[in-house]
Amino acid sequence: MPGSHPRTSMSAEHFDKVYRSKPDPWGTLHKPYEQEKFADTASLLPTGRFRSALEIGCGVGALTRLLAPHCDHLLATDCSAAAVEQARNNCTDLPHLTFATLRVPDELDAKSLPTRLASPVDLIVMSEVGYYLSPADLDLTAARVAALLRPGGYVLLAHWVHDEAGPESEAVPATGAATPEIVTGHGVHKVFRNRADLRPIEGRTGHRHGNSYRLDLFQRMV
Ligand SMILES: C[S@@+](CC[C@H](N)C(=O)[O-])C[C@H]1O[C@@H](n2cnc3c(N)ncnc32)[C@H](O)[C@@H]1O
Repeated sequence: MPGSHPRTSMSAEHFDKVYRSKPDPWGTLHKPYEQEKFADTASLLPTGRFRSALEIGCGVGALTRLLAPHCDHLLATDCSAAAVEQARNNCTDLPHLTFATLRVPDELDAKSLPTRLASPVDLIVMSEVGYYLSPADLDLTAARVAALLRPGGYVLLAHWVHDEAGPESEAVPATGAATPEIVTGHGVHKVFRNRADLRPIEGRTGHRHGNSYRLDLFQRMV
């Protein structure tokens, strides 16, 4: 489980190695905790369909499958080519999905995104990715997510938390902080909550199978 915010973002090579040594490293396709958390995550989506949606850090595509019924087109991405290959194989029955290797924040801009993703985007989902980013990269990712969304579009976040003290309990290290600090989902979500161009719509902390996670839905200000 992640716990400390890396001073530099973890590399795509690291995740490739992880996926090649164990195909579903977090057990997302079969663990009851993961399955129930994904169902809870998808249940936070507002009603109606999304014309154009983007998932960041899709892993092997477990949450992707639950997002798919809500989207006309969903681009599922991950920095690890090994993960993307698995996600694609796990979703062959869903032709309105496309897959791409994409690393945030570097490749998260209109120029780098595949042209099939109609921009501006209606929905961006990021589940269990934020704490692998350095504070500076997390800030930039949040800024680029907001910039890609159409006014009124949504961002849905889901991240593990290791305590129950609440979303305001953890300090987010300042950009470029010299000492890594403990940051979990609350800290990641706080970076998005602190943005003036994103409005919190709904959020909750879930507890299942001895683990806790934070879900937050934000809307891009018009
Ligand atoms: C813990 S897994 C989560 C997978 C899936 N989203 C889920 O909720 O089960 C973290 C994923 O984030 C991806 N990831 C980490 N850093 C990334 C980055 N900078 N850009 C894109 N993906 C990244 C990893 O390759 C990995 O697949």
